Amino acid sequence: MEYPHTPVLVEEVVKRLIHIPEGTYVDGTAGVGGHSEAILERLAGRGRLICLDRDPDAVHLCRRRLAAFYNVCVIRANFAELDEVLKDLSLKRVEGVLLDLGMSSYQLEKSGRGFSFSRGEPLDMRMNPENELTAGHFVNELPAQDLEEILRAYGEEKRARSIVKAIVHAREKGPIETASQLASVIDAAYPRPRQHRFKHPATQTFQAIRIAVNRELHNLDAFLDKIPSLLTHGGRLVVLSYHSLEDRRVKQAMVGWEQTCTCPPDFPRCVCGKAPLFRRLFKKGLKPGQKELENNPRARSAIMRAAERVTR
Ligand SMILES: C[S@@+](CC[C@H](N)C(=O)[O-])C[C@H]1O[C@@H](n2cnc3c(N)ncnc32)[C@H](O)[C@@H]1O
Repeated sequence: MEYPHTPVLVEEVVKRLIHIPEGTYVDGTAGVGGHSEAILERLAGRGRLICLDRDPDAVHLCRRRLAAFYNVCVIRANFAELDEVLKDLSLKRVEGVLLDLGMSSYQLEKSGRGFSFSRGEPLDMRMNPENELTAGHFVNELPAQDLEEILRAYGEEKRARSIVKAIVHAREKGPIETASQLASVIDAAYPRPRQHRFKHPATQTFQAIRIAVNRELHNLDAFLDKIPSLLTHGGRLVVLSYHSLEDRRVKQAMVGWEQTCTCPPDFPRCVCGKAPLFRRLFKKGLKPGQKELENNPRARSAIMRAAERVTR
């Protein structure tokens, strides 16, 4: 069976994540199981893997893909609640956790939930269809000022004001119902001719709305707060991010965990006793090489960071 998502930096992810083949690992964003399958192959039946995804379609596809492995369980859950998931499994800590953030090609192309601006699909964008608020709600119901703030904060969209003005003008005539309809409204609000554009003018707006609908940064922050206490000594955290808002958070968390003494420089000796929690496995984020980008252009914005827990 063909799986509609090509995993990014697979070899690098597996190499950095698995340090004890007998360990228990978590793929917090299992998607259609590309990274999970590679992790299980490397574990070669010794360790075990817990796969999480909050999208029921992903859970279904991942279970199907990994059916031949006995040392895996696939659970529908939010990685922000990893502590609860581990508690339910009577586990305190694990040897490694992977997050491959954002959405999968399955969600973009096959889910029918309006993630792609070229499709006439309903404006949904929920990764977990049980969540209450859809993209349609954000686009059609939100006061203009709040929508503009979302476009600026989560899309870093410089033309937020004129885009929101166009959206408000359009929705006065009737609700914007599909992804392609929203994309056309944004397109019309962009002054530059189409042939001079590097990417579709709706890219940043779609990213912003998806992040807001799925509370993506909130979930990432909650996860980063919890993860130090959920990894064993030597345990690894590997994160693949796809835009600067995510990557900045991951980098700042890792740099913070690495910090030693925080006493003022004029103190004669350390009184804080702060020891580093983690060691970064490499300082600069790792990016896919040219060969990978030729085979998988979607990997172009990926950046990988990895850290190892160094204190007990
Ligand atoms: C880039 S895809 C992962 C693809 C996967 N690595 C593979 O090889 O197939 C991201 C996945 O993370 C899931 N996801 C995003 N946020 C999540 C969260 N907070 N908790 C659990 N899953 C999440 C999405 O539903 C999506 O399936």
